[in-house]
Amino acid sequence: MSTIVVDGGFATGRRLHPWPVRIMHWTNAVAMIVMIGSGWGIYDDSVIFHGLHFPPSLRIGSWAAESLLWHFAAMWLLALNGLAYLTYGVATGRLRERLLPIRFADIVATVRDTLRLKIAHDDLTVYNAVQKVLYIVAILAGVSQIVSGLAVWKPVQFSGLTALLGGFQGARLIHFLGMAVIVGFLIVHVALSLLVPRTLWAMLAGGPRLRAPRAGRRP
Ligand code: HEM
Repeated sequence: MSTIVVDGGFATGRRLHPWPVRIMHWTNAVAMIVMIGSGWGIYDDSVIFHGLHFPPSLRIGSWAAESLLWHFAAMWLLALNGLAYLTYGVATGRLRERLLPIRFADIVATVRDTLRLKIAHDDLTVYNAVQKVLYIVAILAGVSQIVSGLAVWKPVQFSGLTALLGGFQGARLIHFLGMAVIVGFLIVHVALSLLVPRTLWAMLAGGPRLRAPRAGRRP
């Protein structure tokens, strides 16, 4: 099992965000934004919720067919990049190291601190419990978008999957709700990274070098 500490250890040379993670994170951000903007263009052609439209200034593609081309182009980038991120994260143990464990008491403490506007985030190398939950939700929502997207894209070839998701309209609804979760995440995520700009710089430049415990277990 690997343990990362900041004080009292020896430098491992590893950065908080190694370069593959940074490349994959920003590739994902671009792909997600294109998927969301073009998805809104496709949605507006045949709405699910009457009265809910997205303004042309927020849509990518001047009409539905053009939006669809953008959606299909970014889809490959999103899926391959996401697969690379998950494979890298699992193979190196980084995902588990960064995102687990999550304790309920820590979630409550973080929410309490945030409500008191205490979001110092002194130690960048440790994600707080709410951050961990939000990242896991974002990753799962991304996976759900790929799966429900497949069911909407190829409902005949993936008929079993489409049926599992409640048919074509059910898969469409899940795809829309997944988008809403990701947009909600994105608003909070970008706002927090602007509130604590050191995190933004770390995601660009790599951040501090990690330290491993002096005695006992090594990563
Ligand atoms: C342009 C928009 C974005 C900005 C400015 C941004 C910014 C950041 C920053 C600063 C961090 C590091 C946080 C820290 O060290 O405390 C981070 C991490 C992360 N972001 Fe974003 N992000 C963006 C888009 C996205 C999107 C679209 C997703 C997924 C839907 C996403 C998912 C994540 C995840 C999962 C992490 C943790 C990465 C890891 O350690 O493996 N981000 N982001």
